[in-house]
Amino acid sequence: KKRRLILAVESSCDETSVAVVEDGNIILSNVIASQILSHQRFGGVVPEIASRHHVEQVLVCLEEAMTEAEIEAEDLSAVAVTEGPGLVGALLIGISAAKAFAFANGLPLIPVNHMAGHIYAAQFVTEMKFPLMALLVSGGHTELVYMSEDGSYEVIGETRDDAVGEAYDKVGRVLGLAYPSGKEIDELAHLGEDTYHFPRAMLKEDSYDFSFSGLKSAFINKVHNAEQRGEILSVENLASSFQASAIEVLVEKTVRACQSYPVTQLIVAGGVAANKGLRTAMEYRIKQELPEVEVVFPPLKLCGDNAAMIAAAAFSEAAKGNVADMSLNADPSLLL
Ligand code: KG4
Ligand code: ZN
Repeated sequence: KKRRLILAVESSCDETSVAVVEDGNIILSNVIASQILSHQRFGGVVPEIASRHHVEQVLVCLEEAMTEAEIEAEDLSAVAVTEGPGLVGALLIGISAAKAFAFANGLPLIPVNHMAGHIYAAQFVTEMKFPLMALLVSGGHTELVYMSEDGSYEVIGETRDDAVGEAYDKVGRVLGLAYPSGKEIDELAHLGEDTYHFPRAMLKEDSYDFSFSGLKSAFINKVHNAEQRGEILSVENLASSFQASAIEVLVEKTVRACQSYPVTQLIVAGGVAANKGLRTAMEYRIKQELPEVEVVFPPLKLCGDNAAMIAAAAFSEAAKGNVADMSLNADPSLLL
């Protein structure tokens, strides 16, 4: 029996990654070259620098992924690549490399939505069961997605301003933390308490939309006012108060969405799904309100950007017959 192997390339933001996945959920290799150190001193991702690093790294990652997987190009069934959303220059590097590799080896090219990739990272924990709800939380996105079946996406709510990861990073900057600061704020939050009680945006509204810019502003004002008065604030309590507000809104809106749609599974995915506070609170509330719903978080290492998740989603795309030709272009604002 011929093995089903997909090689995937991801380059939408500041990670160059190439992976080989078998049967949708077995990782043979998942090489990730992070550029974080190059962007840190700018306090965020600089698109031009990101593109240059992708150019340097993509073929190195590709070779390493093939070697580590111990396969030859002829063993592959397809090549998958992130089509969008993301930085256009960054996406183009991955797409060019994937096209060239697919063309040279006579393999089909499968375009994958980066956000679908984040959801399909759940496949590495357990089989996805439909209908399901996905809470997507990353540096660029915060949305609730209802999937009635494999490959079908209905965005039922999204942020009206900042993404939750973006809010974490901006607040971290005010505290003088290195970019990206989500993980560090999560750790600080566990050492403090919710003493400042920031607003819970849109919690009372009858909508699945989110808003995090008000929380961010409340946080920044609190810090600046204290500075002017020479008042000392607890960094741990600030982190804890920020995180409590962000998590409460994410959890309550997700619980409501799962109560209104006939879901069997809840997948929480994206970089912020690595958050320990979010994991604990979500599991607790779903168990309390909807014990029949299975909560799935991708493995910690696969919450951030990586190509294994793109390969996992590509197996679903391949089943639908979604194949691109050599005219495939990057789509920086591709929708689910
Ligand atoms: O999915 P991702 O790797 O890249 C995007 O597609 O955006 O998400 C990165 C985001 C960053 O904003 C980072 O601060 C946040 O995920 N993040 C966290 C944690 N780990 C990463 N936010 C909160 N708690 C964490 N433990
Ligand atoms: Zn991402």
